[in-house]
Amino acid sequence: MKLTIVEDYQWLSVVGAQMVAEQVRRQPGSVLGLATGGTPVGMYAELVRMYKEQGLDFSQVITFNLDEYVGLASSDPASYNWYMWHHLFSHINIPLENVHLPNGIAVPVQDECRCYEQAITRAGGIDLQVLGIGSNGHIGFNEPGTPFESETQVICLTEETRRANARYFPDGNVPTHAISMGIKSILKAKRILLLAGGPDKAAAIEQALEGPVTVELPASVLQLHPDVTVVVDTAAAAGLTKAGSEKPTHQAAG
Ligand code: GLP
Repeated sequence: MKLTIVEDYQWLSVVGAQMVAEQVRRQPGSVLGLATGGTPVGMYAELVRMYKEQGLDFSQVITFNLDEYVGLASSDPASYNWYMWHHLFSHINIPLENVHLPNGIAVPVQDECRCYEQAITRAGGIDLQVLGIGSNGHIGFNEPGTPFESETQVICLTEETRRANARYFPDGNVPTHAISMGIKSILKAKRILLLAGGPDKAAAIEQALEGPVTVELPASVLQLHPDVTVVVDTAAAAGLTKAGSEKPTHQAAG
């Protein structure tokens, strides 16, 4: 596991975007696994800037998002589909047919899960998977207790996760279930980039990187993957004892 500690959210976003951009430049037809949540918003903004100012080309890129809420249509502003178009896809030159998210209103939902997993395999698997982390250590929507062997499936969200995401639901009606790539689906990615910022993530990051590998802390499974880069800001890195004396590698000038 490669750990990069940066000073703040701005650097987190820049360093994350640089890794995605490097992947896309090296392999223009890359299959990217993408995450939602507050953490990657800045990274997506930086990628949009790179597209507009540097011509970073997404015309051959294929994307698969980690997850979607069950019951939300893509037109719902709280859906992850809407989020991705709002923050990234509408602003870059990625073809509509190259973009994939689970369909939250598909019936039966189990067929959607199976087809989604198959579509990833058909695309050749994910070259670079971007991940955030929940404060309980979840990745995608794989809550504590999710078996490591799991593929795309329906997850029952914990109260903690629903509370953490309530800010995106003005009516307070956070869905109870989500479709999520499984732990096994995530581990199949060739490379993984985990981003975490802020003090609320410090405990989960410490356990994920330095604790035992356990289904109770889903992100700890990343210790078993051969090519993981973790980019955290100093607040999220605060609990790391092994890296405790490291200085941030990216700091604001002056
Ligand atoms: C949701 C998403 C995850 C994300 C997590 C953390 O649960 N399904 O993919 O990593 O939130 O979100 P945030 O970055 O807003 O803290």
